[in-house]
Amino acid sequence: MINVGILGFGTVGSGTAKILLENRDILEERLGFKINLKRIADLDIKRDRGIKIPKGVLTTDANLVLNDPDIHIVVELMGGIRPAKDFILKAIMNGKHVVTANKALLATEGTDIFDAAARVGVEVGFEAAVAGAIPIIKVMRESLVANRIKAVYGIINGTCNYILTKMTYEDVEFADALKEAQKLGYAEADPTLDIEGIDSAHKLTILATLAYGIPLSFNQVHVEGISRISSLDIAFASELGYKLKLLAITKESDGKIELRVHPTMLPKDYLIAKVDGPFNAVYVDGDAAGSTLYYGRGAGSVPTGSAVVGDIADIARNIRMNAVGRVPIPTKISSGAGIKKIDDIVSMYYFRFSALDKPGVLSKISGILGNYNISIASVIQKGRKVGEAVPLVVLSHEAKEKDVRKAIVEIDRLPVVMDKTVFIRVEGRQES
Ligand code: NDP
Ligand code: HSE
Repeated sequence: MINVGILGFGTVGSGTAKILLENRDILEERLGFKINLKRIADLDIKRDRGIKIPKGVLTTDANLVLNDPDIHIVVELMGGIRPAKDFILKAIMNGKHVVTANKALLATEGTDIFDAAARVGVEVGFEAAVAGAIPIIKVMRESLVANRIKAVYGIINGTCNYILTKMTYEDVEFADALKEAQKLGYAEADPTLDIEGIDSAHKLTILATLAYGIPLSFNQVHVEGISRISSLDIAFASELGYKLKLLAITKESDGKIELRVHPTMLPKDYLIAKVDGPFNAVYVDGDAAGSTLYYGRGAGSVPTGSAVVGDIADIARNIRMNAVGRVPIPTKISSGAGIKKIDDIVSMYYFRFSALDKPGVLSKISGILGNYNISIASVIQKGRKVGEAVPLVVLSHEAKEKDVRKAIVEIDRLPVVMDKTVFIRVEGRQES
C-alpha cells in the first residue's frame, strides 16, 4: 500500500481526494496495490467540499502530513510560493516524493525543488501544472523523447479561453465572463495571473525547459494578456477568417528559443483555433513525429485531479518497482540556446488604426508601413463618418517586430490618427 497526504483541500485538492476515494477500486485493479489517502491538511476543515472524507483524515496541521513516516507521497495543492515551497522542501528532506500542480512555484523556484529532490533521490510529479487533464508533461518527457522539438503552441489557460469564447459567441462582457470562470473554479486565487498571461507564461516556462533543456526562464518570457482585448478586434478577426486566442509559443528559430505569450489570431479552420471554453490544447511539432495535438480540459476540480492522481500512480509504481527516478527530473539542463528577444521575432500582424475618414489617410499609413518593410496583405475600413475617426484594419505579411513597433510610433504621431494603434500577432498561412 502507498500512503498519500494532501496539502490544500480546495478546488484541485477536493477533486484529487474525490478520485482517490471514488475510483480506488479501479486504481487498485490497475496498479495491483492500494493507494491510501491517509491525510488531508487545510486551514479550514469545516467547509463542505462536496465529498465525504473518512474520519481522522482531515487535519489543520500540515506537519501531520510532512512528518508522518508512513506517508510516501505528499501532494501540494495549496498554490502560491510560500509556504508551499517550504512545505515541499520539507517533504523532500523527509524523503517523501512530491506531486504538485503549482506552476507558479515551479516556473519561478522550480530549480531549488528539482535540485533538492535529485539530491535526496525522490520524485517530483507536475503533470497537473500544465494544461489540467491533458498529459502533456508525460508527452514531452517520455512519448516524444526521440524528437528534436521544433515548436510548441498552446492554449494553456482555461480562464482566458473561457472568457474569449464567451466574448466571441455570446457577446458577454469581459468582466462578466471572468466572474463566471471564477465561479466555475477555473481561475487562480488572484485572477490577474490568468488574464495578464502570467499563468500561461508559468506553464510555457515549464514546457520550454522540457522541450529545449533550457533553464527555467520565466523572467525571459514576453507576456501580454487579454485584459485589453476588445469585442471590436474579435469581430474584425472573425470577418478576416480568424479566431482570437491567448497563445503560448516556444520555438527554435535562428538558433535561439522564442518564449512568448500573447493574444494571437489563428485561421478559423486550424484545429487549435476550434478549441473553446475552458478547454486547452497543445500543438507540438517534433522532427520525427511531425505535428501532434493534445486536447482536453485545462482547468477545474476533477479534470486537474485526474492529472494529479496520474502522477501519484506513476510514482507509486516506481516505488513498487524500485525504479524511482526512472524518468529523470529536469535538473541537469544545458544552458541551451539564448532566448530570442521579442523585437527580433518575425510574424504577421493585424493592425487597427483609429484614423480620420478623409482622402489620403490610407496612403500616409501604408507609406510608413512600407518604409519599415511591412507589406500589406489586406485592408478593411468599416463605416463612413467623414471627418471622424473610423477603424482602419490592416493585415500584414511577415514583418519584423522591431520594425512594427517603430512604424506604430510614427503612425500614432500622424495628426489624422486619433487613438493608439492596436496590433495583434497573426499565426498561420501568409496570404499571397
Ligand atoms: P484553491 O484556492 O481552491 O485551494 C487551495 C487550498 O489550500 C485552499 O483550501 C486553502 O485554504 C488551502 N491552503 C492555503 N494555505 C494553506 C496552508 N498553509 N495549509 C493548508 N492549506 C492551505 O486553489 P486551487 O485548488 O484552484 O489550486 C491549487 C493549486 O493548483 C494552485 O497551485 C493552482 O495554480 C493549481 N491549479 C489549479 C487548477 C484549477 O483548475 N483550479 C488547475 C491546475 C492547477 P483557504 O481557502 O482557507 O486559504
Ligand atoms: N487558472 C488556470 C487556468 C488553472 O485557468 O488555466 C489551470 O492551470
